[in-house]
Amino acid sequence: MIARVAPLIAGNWKMNGVRSALEEVDRLRMLVEAGEPPRGDIALFPPATLLAAVSARLEGSVIATGGQDCHQATGGAHTGDISAPMLADAGARYVILGHSERRAEHGETDQLVRAKALAALGSGLIPIVCVGETAEEREAGRVEEVVARQLLDSMPATIDIEEFVIAYEPVWAIGNGRTPTLDEIAAVHATIRWLLVQRFQDQGEVIRILYGGSLKPSNAAEILSVPEVNGGLVGGASLLSDEFYDIISAL
Ligand code: PGA
Repeated sequence: MIARVAPLIAGNWKMNGVRSALEEVDRLRMLVEAGEPPRGDIALFPPATLLAAVSARLEGSVIATGGQDCHQATGGAHTGDISAPMLADAGARYVILGHSERRAEHGETDQLVRAKALAALGSGLIPIVCVGETAEEREAGRVEEVVARQLLDSMPATIDIEEFVIAYEPVWAIGNGRTPTLDEIAAVHATIRWLLVQRFQDQGEVIRILYGGSLKPSNAAEILSVPEVNGGLVGGASLLSDEFYDIISAL
């Protein structure tokens, strides 16, 4: 039996934050170091322009950093893109891939997300692959089908490390305060766990499955205690350190 991995609380700043936001990073570090040792891993995902600076500010702390996306190639003529080795060089330990905003705004397919995940693993980064249904898909009773397709097609066929993370983020719950019921979250997480174990056997047991979508201090404790919820991917509530720290403390 493989021991369970520690949960992860990941703060995705999205396209928010300029250098003045580094004060929030200092405050988060201060809160984390002054409090009880966190009962899990913590990571911040600032915009790419701040990644190196945030990584430097957090050096020697328990708070890791990550990128919000990477290109599938290691380098070359790809104007505006950022490669996995570049993220690693800027101090990143993780990279979020296939976030619904990238799937919707940049037309990212499961196959592209899978290529990006392979690039990330090749650079020693831990991919956080996002899956989740739209409101229409939920109303049509297609949650399991959509999540299963995204999961199986976005992940590499084999993985030889335990460091792989899935984030279940119902698209209709992102950024608007709406969340699924605890039973609905439990059902999807159980499905994802089942699919991971079918595909990766023992390794599928230790892949962390995060919940994301309007996670905030007021609902964090109950959502984070749902079976098979191994942490959270937090958007809006990660921008202010006090709120984000309250979610970390809810672990
Ligand atoms: P939210 O975003 O917490 O603002 O809903 C979550 C996400 O998109 O990762």
